[in-house]
Amino acid sequence: MGKVILTGDRPTGRLHLGHYVGSLKRRVELQNSGAFEKIFIMIADAQALTDNADNPEKIRQNIIEVALDYLSVGLDPKQVTLFIQSQVPELCELAFYYMNLVTVSRLQRNPTVKTEIQMRNFEASIPVGFFTYPISQASDITAFKATTVPVGEDQKPMIEQTREIVNRFNYIYGETLIEPEIMLPDNAACLRLPGTDGKAKMSKSLGNCIYLSDTAEEVRKKIMSMYTDPTHIRVEDPGKIEGNTVFTYLDAFCKPDSFEKHWPEYPDLNALKEHYQRGGLGDVKVKKFLNAILQEELEPIRQRRKEFEKDIPGVYEILRQGSLHAREVAAETLADVRRAMKIDYFDDAALIAEHTRKFAEGNKG
Ligand code: TRP
Repeated sequence: MGKVILTGDRPTGRLHLGHYVGSLKRRVELQNSGAFEKIFIMIADAQALTDNADNPEKIRQNIIEVALDYLSVGLDPKQVTLFIQSQVPELCELAFYYMNLVTVSRLQRNPTVKTEIQMRNFEASIPVGFFTYPISQASDITAFKATTVPVGEDQKPMIEQTREIVNRFNYIYGETLIEPEIMLPDNAACLRLPGTDGKAKMSKSLGNCIYLSDTAEEVRKKIMSMYTDPTHIRVEDPGKIEGNTVFTYLDAFCKPDSFEKHWPEYPDLNALKEHYQRGGLGDVKVKKFLNAILQEELEPIRQRRKEFEKDIPGVYEILRQGSLHAREVAAETLADVRRAMKIDYFDDAALIAEHTRKFAEGNKG
């Protein structure tokens, strides 16, 4: 059997550069590699509702944004299935059965859930749906018999949890589900792209994101006010590379031909870093270089987005068709699961025959 990808994003906002280097770019490469039999990309609205139950309008507004982001980075609905989680009710049914295979204490030990509970001040009262979303995520993955889940490292505990559920299910009910593998980003700088303010992560609430849908001018402004090395005050001062956001971004976005195209005075990134560390190189110059590289990367994305924005009903139709297809695939897995769990009563002629005999005998004498 061929390899199958499933991955997705919560539609709580437009997607940003962190998503792009951490996952979107890779997804397009994987799509174009031809190494996968099927690719499913899910807008995880039901999961987004687990901590936004009181704000459904936010989720509703962001589904189209995320879909446009997907299409604009080059995901091709002819090659991948783009769908909306809530439109595949089979996923809920799977999650309901998987809940029997997971303990409360195991969920409490999930490091991602732990930090997220703290971040949301949920300590006192955690919504059950939020607490159990790792189980729902296991349904998302297994419903499509995914072999490969390309996600950021923060999702590691989710894939671990999924593998445990798969193993337990197969052990109890017989080989039914596929054990997925995580696929992490390969460039170290991409594991977690910091925000423009140097904080650990791009996050909408911190206001430190560069969005894929930002205009060229918005991107330029954000780069020019980016956090660098606070001790690098005069141009002559030696500068630090570690923790310097501009250089982290260069690590993530520099291509072999970037210097030749935009800054031929330097042979490569190492030479630029050495000069910066030695002193005599100002932040503005480096930022302008980063701007040139980023604009080059983002311009085709912006252009594609503009085209899709002209046909919004068409984008919704892509999601509708994708969701219908996703339902068909998930329903097949669900049929396997029901059979394995012995809850396929009406499809089991042997069961009805057996009970026919049993009660016939009982009525004989
Ligand atoms: N938890 C993921 C996120 O926050 C979204 C997601 C939901 C997902 N279900 C998934 C990712 C299944 C990979 C596989 O972005």
